[in-house]
Amino acid sequence: MFKHTLKALVCAFPLFAGFASAADPISIKFAHVVAEHTPKGQGALLFKKLAEERLPGQVKVEVYPNSSLFGDGKEMEALLLGDVQLLAPSLAKFEHYSKPIQIFDLPFLFNDINALDRFQQSPQGQALLKSMEGKGLTGLGYWHNGMKQLSANKALYEPKDARGLKFRVQASAVLDEQFKALRAAPRKMSFAEVYQGLQTGVVNGTENTWSNYESQNVYEVQKFFTESDHGAIDYMVITNTKFWNGLPADVRSTLDAVMAEVTVEVNKQAEVLNAASRQRIVDAGTSEIIILTPEQREMWRESMRPVWKKFEGDIGVDLIQAAEQANQSS
Ligand code: LMR
Repeated sequence: MFKHTLKALVCAFPLFAGFASAADPISIKFAHVVAEHTPKGQGALLFKKLAEERLPGQVKVEVYPNSSLFGDGKEMEALLLGDVQLLAPSLAKFEHYSKPIQIFDLPFLFNDINALDRFQQSPQGQALLKSMEGKGLTGLGYWHNGMKQLSANKALYEPKDARGLKFRVQASAVLDEQFKALRAAPRKMSFAEVYQGLQTGVVNGTENTWSNYESQNVYEVQKFFTESDHGAIDYMVITNTKFWNGLPADVRSTLDAVMAEVTVEVNKQAEVLNAASRQRIVDAGTSEIIILTPEQREMWRESMRPVWKKFEGDIGVDLIQAAEQANQSS
């Protein structure tokens, strides 16, 4: 009789079929779009290792790299639906959830990753981690990748060299405007499509970090990289607010501690991994790396800086000033 009732329940409410018994570990899926030997890829694996070591039998973490579970465009929705529990999208991908987070895309805002880090650790930077809770997303920490460089099938020394070229951009209005300011044509495209887009000429160039260029083999399809350091690709590790708050308190505090430890480690290693990737691109010998003179770099800054004005209303002038302050001990 009981068996029949249960069967009827499972048929009527398929969700019952997914209920875990008390002994089952809590399942945490961590999806991301990059390769495993990048800063984010390594961070996700370290989180799995430490979480499973510290909470044996209590949590099971599955890591899905390379857009293998969800790619750009679908992943936040999946997080809100509970189909995945952890993501670390680049800070360029939050504009539908928080306008102030657009600050991280403003070109030539941070002198280097240390300045970016100082802003992230400031009260204003920490407040942004909590700024999307009303929408169901909680930020657990910032992970670094690195400074962005330009790439193209033509040598880019000065802004005018980019004119008329099609550049792949992440889904970010700021980055769209950044390339429009160069009189180039931005094309929003998911990360998984970048290599093919460049190979087939759908786009002629892009911007990214050395680790993303190297791990996606972009040096096979781009003749030139310009070391511009004009912005950064960094991440916010996010979870579903309800899921995280619903974890047993001891599990949640252990996972918070693991996340804090992993964050320190990722942020220590990011520069080393990017430098190694840059060297692999040099060793491949298929493309040229252009080093800008200070005067040339100033020209890029002057061309891109007007973008700030367009977004200061959405981002907030005070927040931009706080971010600029973070450059002071660079
Ligand atoms: C990109 O789309 O270029 C990056 O956000 C990918 C990543 O996660 O580093």
